[in-house]
Amino acid sequence: MRIIRAKDYDAMSAAAARLIAAQILLKPDCVLGLATGSSPVGAYQNLIAWNKTGALDFSAVRSVNLDEYAGLTPDHDQSYAYFMRHNLFNHVNIDLKNTNVPSGISGDGECQRYDKLIADLGGIDLQLLGLGVNGHIGFNEPDDHFSLGTHKVTLTESTRQANKRFFPSLDEVPTHAYTMGVRDILQARRVVMVASGTSKAQAIKDAFFGPVTPQVPASILQYHPDFVLVADEEALSLI
Ligand code: GLP
Repeated sequence: MRIIRAKDYDAMSAAAARLIAAQILLKPDCVLGLATGSSPVGAYQNLIAWNKTGALDFSAVRSVNLDEYAGLTPDHDQSYAYFMRHNLFNHVNIDLKNTNVPSGISGDGECQRYDKLIADLGGIDLQLLGLGVNGHIGFNEPDDHFSLGTHKVTLTESTRQANKRFFPSLDEVPTHAYTMGVRDILQARRVVMVASGTSKAQAIKDAFFGPVTPQVPASILQYHPDFVLVADEEALSLI
């Protein structure tokens, strides 16, 4: 595991964007595993700026997103499909047909379909991750075991509380989600996590300086051979 210590959110975003841009330059038709949440937005803004100058070409890039709320259609303004279009896809020259987000409305066959899709793409070259305040990755919540493939999860109260800022009220935050499992994430050839702010400091300490346990899902990344944590000083303040 490698840690890139950034001064603040902007420096973290620029450092993470450089890693993603390097991946695209090395392999223009790479498969990017993408994440939602406020943590990766700044990195996406850097990528958009480089695409606009012509320095970065997304025309052959393929993408698979980590997760989606159960029950939300791709047009719902809090769906992760909508988030990706508005925060990245609509602003770069990626072919929307090459982008994939789990469907929140297709039912249980979706999990198998999504794992097969990732395999058919040849696996993920670079997986970008955020970090939940309870140590979750994607929507892999603390549990007594690690789930391997894409699966449906019941969201914890802490995750629903953390994400309610995006919804009119807590009642409207979905109770379930679909997420890639830890095998999907660990099989990515490179994993890059972005984390910013004091709210993530305890989760970073638990995940990367404590035991590997499904109670802190991100801790499994300690086993990944090419894992880079890009975090700002506040997020690293407890280590
Ligand atoms: C959600 C997403 C995660 C994300 C997490 C943290 O729960 N499913 O993929 O990492 O939120 O979000 P933020 O970056 O906004 O703190």
